[in-house]
Amino acid sequence: AGIFTFDPGFMSTASCHSAITFIDGEKGVLLYRGYPIEQLATKASFLEVVYLLLYGELPNEKALVGFEKLVSRHTMLNENLKNFLDGFHYDAHPMSILIGVVGSLSAFYHDSLSVNEYHDREISAHRLIAKLPTIAAAAYKHSIGEPIMYPRNDLRFCANFLHMMFATPCEDYKPRLVAEKALNLLFILHADHEQNASTSTVRLAGSSGANPFACLAAGIASLWGPAHGGANEAVLDMLLEIGSVDNVPRYIEKAKDKDDPFRLMGFGHRVYKNYDPRAKIIREVCHQVLEELAEANNPLFDLAMKLEDIALNDEYFVERKLYPNVDFYSGIIYQALGIPRNMFTVMFAIARTVGWVSHWMEMMSDSNNRIGRPRQIYCGPSQRDYLPISRR
Ligand code: CMC
Repeated sequence: AGIFTFDPGFMSTASCHSAITFIDGEKGVLLYRGYPIEQLATKASFLEVVYLLLYGELPNEKALVGFEKLVSRHTMLNENLKNFLDGFHYDAHPMSILIGVVGSLSAFYHDSLSVNEYHDREISAHRLIAKLPTIAAAAYKHSIGEPIMYPRNDLRFCANFLHMMFATPCEDYKPRLVAEKALNLLFILHADHEQNASTSTVRLAGSSGANPFACLAAGIASLWGPAHGGANEAVLDMLLEIGSVDNVPRYIEKAKDKDDPFRLMGFGHRVYKNYDPRAKIIREVCHQVLEELAEANNPLFDLAMKLEDIALNDEYFVERKLYPNVDFYSGIIYQALGIPRNMFTVMFAIARTVGWVSHWMEMMSDSNNRIGRPRQIYCGPSQRDYLPISRR
C-alpha cells in the first residue's frame, strides 16, 4: 500500500526547482529570468529572449550577433526529411506533421545525442530552435501543394519564417515590418510559461534520459489539445461559429450551462486568476497591427471585443475569475498576417520550443534530477483468483 497525496491536475504540486520563469497568478506578473514580460515584449528581439531563457542573461551585442549566426547555421533540414514529409497526406493537420518530423530528427542528427554531455545538449537545443520554423513552414507548403522554400540566413528569425511561408520559387516575398514585429512579439509572449502541461511533458519524458528530439515531440503532442495550445485555433473556430454580435448572449449562456460541453475558448487560466499579462499586451497590439495591415474593420475583432465585454460583466465569469488569456487574441493577429487557422498552434510550438529546450537543459544540468514517477490511489478490485474461461 502506501499513502500518497492526491493532487489531480497537479494543482498544488511543485515538480522541480527552476530559475527560468516566475509567475504570480494573483497579481498577473510574468518574468523571464527576472525581466518583466512587458519590457521584453516591447524592447527585445525574439532571439535575444531565446538567449536569455537558454543561458540566464541578456546577451551583449557581440554575444547576440554570435548567437544569431549560430542559430542560422542550423536552419536547414536534412534533404531526406523531404521524403518523410511527402509521405503525409496533403490534408494532414500540420501539428500531426510536426510531431512526426520533430520526433524523427533523432534519426537524422544522432551525432549530438549524448544527453550527458553539455556540448551535445547545447547543439541539440540550437538545432531544435533553428529547425522548428523550417519544419513548420514545410508542413504548410506541403498542405497547399507548393514546393518547400529553403531558409534564408540573411534574414532575421521572424522575417525568414515569413519568407519560408509565403515566398515561392517564382516570386520573392518581402515581409512587411509590421508583420515581422507582430510575429516577434507573439513569439516572445509564448516563449515560456514555467511548468505548463507541455513543458511538464518534456521534463517527464526527458527525466528518463530520452533524447531531446523525442521529448520535444511529446511536448508538441501535449500542446495540441484545445485546453492548452490548441486554444488559439479553437478561438477562431468559435468566433466563426458565433458569427455575429447578436449571437453572443446565446453562446455566453451555453458556456455557463454545465450540461453543455461548450466553453468560451480563450477564457480562463489555471494560474492567472485576475488577468493574463500576456493578454493585456497583445490586446493593445492587436488593434495597432490590424490598423497597419488595413484590417481595422476586421469583424472577428469586433466580435471578440463584444464577447469579452459581455463575459467580463457576467456574474458567472466574474465569480470564477475567468478572463481572456493570451490565445483569445493571438489567432486574430495570425489571421491578419495571412497565417491559416490550422497553423496557429504550430506558431505556438515554434515559440514554446525555446521554453521546452531551456527547461530540458536546466533539468539535465541538475544533479538532483531523478526519473519522474508519480504514484496513484488504486481504486480497482482487490485481489481475486483467475477463473477458467468456461466458468466466467
Ligand atoms: N468557459 C466556461 N466556463 C469555464 C471556462 C471557460 N472557458 N474555463 C473554466 N470554466 C469554469 C469551469 O467549468 C469551472 O466551473 P465550476 O467551478 O462551476 O465547475 C471553473 O470555471 C473552473 O474551471 P476549471 O476547468 O476547474 O479550471 P482549470 O484551471 O482546470 O482549467 C483552463 C483552466 C484554461 C483549461 C480552462 O479555463 C479552459 O478550458 N479554458 C478554455 C481553453 C483555453 O482558453 N485554454 C488556453 C489556456 S492559455 C494558453 C496556454 O497556456 O496553453
